[in-house]
Formats: sequence, C-alpha cells, structure tokens
Amino acid sequence: MSKRIILNAFDMTCVSHQAAGTWRHPQSQAYKYKDLDYWTELAKTLEKGRFDSIFIADVVGVYDVYRGSVETALIDADQVPVNDPFFQVPAMAMVTEHLGFGVTSALTYELPYALARKFATLDHLTKGRVAWNVVTSYLDSAARNLGMAKQVAHDKRYDLADEFLDVTYKLWEGSWDDDAVVRDREKGVFTDPSKVHPINHKGEFFDVPGIALFEPSPQRTPSIFQAGASPRGRDFAAKHGEGIFIAPPTAEVARKVTDDIRDRAEAYGRQRDDVKIFTLITVITAETDEAAEAKYNEYLEYASGEGMLAFYGGWTGLDFGEFDPDQPLRAVENDALRSTLELLEADGSGRTWTPLEIVKHRSIGGLGPVIVGGPQTVADELERWVEVGGIDGFNIAYAITPGTFEDFVELVVPELQSRGRVQTEYQTGTLREKLSGSTSPQVPVGHPARQYRGAFTEHNATDETKQSKTHDYLVGQADG
Ligand SMILES: Cc1cc2nc3c(=O)[nH]c(=O)nc-3n(C[C@H](O)[C@H](O)[C@H](O)COP(=O)(O)O)c2cc1C
Repeated sequence: MSKRIILNAFDMTCVSHQAAGTWRHPQSQAYKYKDLDYWTELAKTLEKGRFDSIFIADVVGVYDVYRGSVETALIDADQVPVNDPFFQVPAMAMVTEHLGFGVTSALTYELPYALARKFATLDHLTKGRVAWNVVTSYLDSAARNLGMAKQVAHDKRYDLADEFLDVTYKLWEGSWDDDAVVRDREKGVFTDPSKVHPINHKGEFFDVPGIALFEPSPQRTPSIFQAGASPRGRDFAAKHGEGIFIAPPTAEVARKVTDDIRDRAEAYGRQRDDVKIFTLITVITAETDEAAEAKYNEYLEYASGEGMLAFYGGWTGLDFGEFDPDQPLRAVENDALRSTLELLEADGSGRTWTPLEIVKHRSIGGLGPVIVGGPQTVADELERWVEVGGIDGFNIAYAITPGTFEDFVELVVPELQSRGRVQTEYQTGTLREKLSGSTSPQVPVGHPARQYRGAFTEHNATDETKQSKTHDYLVGQADG
C-alpha cells in the first residue's frame, strides 16, 4: 500500500503570500483576506478535497530590506497588510468538522504564559484541530517595532525557543491533571485545587511560577509544526516538530533534508516516522498539460518582479536593489532565513542564481518550486517528490486564491484518490491522531512535552488546608 500523502493548504492572512503581483489577476480574491467569508468558503473547499489542514503563515514585520524601504512591499502587498492569523480559525472550525488549522506564531516576540493560553483556547474551540507552527522569525523590522534594537541572533533565537517551548509544555501537560475539573454542582466545586499545580519554571529567559490559566484541551499540547531549515533549525524541528515544513528546490535536495531531520529525530529518541515532513509547492493545473501551461503563462503576465525581489530581500536579508540584475548570488551567514540561498544554489539546475533568475523562475512559487500540468502529470510529480524526497506531504501555495486551491481539489485530488494516495474519508479524532494515525490525542512518548505529564503533582495550587477552610467558609456563607 502506497504511503498516504498529507495535504495542507498554505495561506496567510494577507494579499500576496508567495506569488508576487498575481493579486491583480481578475479571478484573484486575495484582497478578501480580511473577510470571514473568504476563510469559511476556503475551509469548506479544502474539507471537500479532504485536505488535512490549512497552514497559515505569519510575520510580525515587513519586507523592507529591498532598496532599504517598505515601499515595494506596500505597493505590491507583499505580506503587508497582514492581519493576525488566529481570528479566522474558529469561524473555519464552525463550518468544518475535520480540517486542521496550523497557525504560525513567532515566539521570539511572545510570552509563553500568554501564548500557551491562546493555543489552548483554539484547541478547545476547534475540538483538538489546531497546530502551532513554531517559528522564530527572520525580519529585523519585527524586532525593531517590538522593543529590540535588532533581532536576536540566529542560533540564540533557537535557544530561546527551546526554553519557550519547555514553559508551554509544562503549562499544557503538567499544570492541570486530567480530572482537575470536577464540575460538581452539589458540592459547589468546579475545579479541585489539589489537582492544579504551579510549574515553578525558572530559566535563562523566563520565570513562570504559577498555574496554567486554562483547563486541559483535547490535545493538551497542540500539534507542533515547525519551519526552520538551517542545521540548528532542523535540530530544533527534529526535537519538537510533529509536522515539519521545508522548502527545498528539488526532490533530490528534499531527500537530504528529510534524512537529516529523521536522523536527528532518532537521536532525540523519537521514531523516524514521528515527524511528518511537508514541502512547499505551488501547483498550476487544468484539464490538460497544455491548458495548465497556458494558465501558468497567463499568471506570469501578472507577476511582479520587483515584488519578488522584495520578498527575497526579506527572506535572505540581502538588498537585491544593490545588485546588478545579473550578479551571481552567494549564501551568506546572517540573521535572516539562512537557508534560502543555500537551497537555491543546490537546486541541481546548474543555474547561476542572480536577481534576474529569481524573478524569472520564482515569481509564482516564491520560496518553493512550481509544478505545472494536467492532473496526471501533477499526480506523477507529487508522487515522485514523495518517493525521491522522502516527504510525507505538501504545503500547497497559491498562484491565485482561491482558484489554485479549487483547481487542485477539483482536478488533482480525485486523481490522487484514484491512486490511493490521499484520503477519501477523514479519520476521526484530533489533528494529532489524524496526522500520526495514532489513537491518542496527546503527544507520544519520546516527544519532549511528554515528560511533564504528572511532573508537578507534589505541588498544589494552594495550600490544601487553607484552601479547604476558605472553601468551607465560602460555601457556608452561600448556604446561609
Ligand atoms: C519553509 C519555511 C517557512 C517559514 N515560515 C515562516 C513564517 O510563516 N513566519 C516566520 O516568522 N518565520 C517563518 N520561517 C522562518 C523560520 O521559522 C526561522 O525563523 C528562519 O527560517 C530562520 O531559521 P533557519 O535559518 O533555521 O531557517 C519559515 C522558514 C521556512 C524554512
């Protein structure tokens, strides 16, 4: 039996996500990113196509590296304006039953105590269908507007992220016992205080002494997605990630990345298959290969070269405005998305990457490659990626939205279903169960969150004697 392919739609609460300029296409509804209708209709389309999840990217900064200004990004709507990615999720959950929701949040600019509650809330409201895409950000502009002179250095961001996750795991897994909420109307006890525990976290970056504010949600720890591609990023992903998002240029490069991530996961005591790896891809499809090619060429007419250079400026931290259009590009070590140029260089095309080549070949796919073809051609190519690349699925980006997703659902999904490659019905249960095929909604043994289940039981939320006296007194007052 062939391996099931996981399908995620890759979107963002903005106008231009990966493709630049295509928002001008007459069929693009990208401008509707601020309407709940856009999100609920998209969610229904994706669920009809048995997608596993919608993966929502996010940034809290702007693409202002290109020509040293945010001007191009604003003109082209390159990930700005951008709304908060949390709020559309409950609306999408209302109109679907199974679709998962991967929500990106850059922990570098958050506090673990508050963010843990946000995700627990979403996990409650979606009945266990939420994943946190744990990122550490890459835009200096985010840091500058969030109280820092510049962003935390690349590897240090991951040290901070490790501790951040540790705190959230303690809150999600260890603070409240499964049976803490008793909801006993007779006794007038909603929560048994002896079953709620302070986490007493003291670390290099955070001190969090108290109890979690929320009761355990279906997954407790939301499914953990991660996207970081440098060696340090992959190590972090291999330790924590349950869904890992990569953006290699070819299936052959993907294989090196997936083998490396799975080796690292094993070194952390996890199963190789505990990590599901999704690769970024844009798919342009139509009834035939020729029609798909024509559609691609039509989209290209709307592509914005300047917009794409603004994107690549943000991703690489390099101002492409300072380069000659034909100047060969070389990867550098900086604090941005380090892997971007390394991956381009490894794309096997033999191409010398220059700003002009980026504009020519990436204007639609952004950080990732594009597949153009009829349903059979696309399905063949996706299967090849899975076999050669050792990946588990795809984060499918759009050229135009929702058209790209609709085309995929209408044309490619049935083809993949007929090949037994994607699901025709959903498995029941939480997102974690659906993705891993397990029967437990909670993190498996071997995941670093797991160690905190029951870890704080000796510490109670309050002194028990004092609590029960206060409680008796209050109940007496209420009765009397
Ligand atoms: C495929 C991919 C997608 C990413 N998506 C986001 C995102 O939506 N928001 C964000 O702030 N960072 C995003 N990142 C950035 C990473 O979380 C990380 O901070 C950055 O890549 C630097 O680490 P690295 O050099 O290990 O990749 C993404 C990275 C990759 C590789």
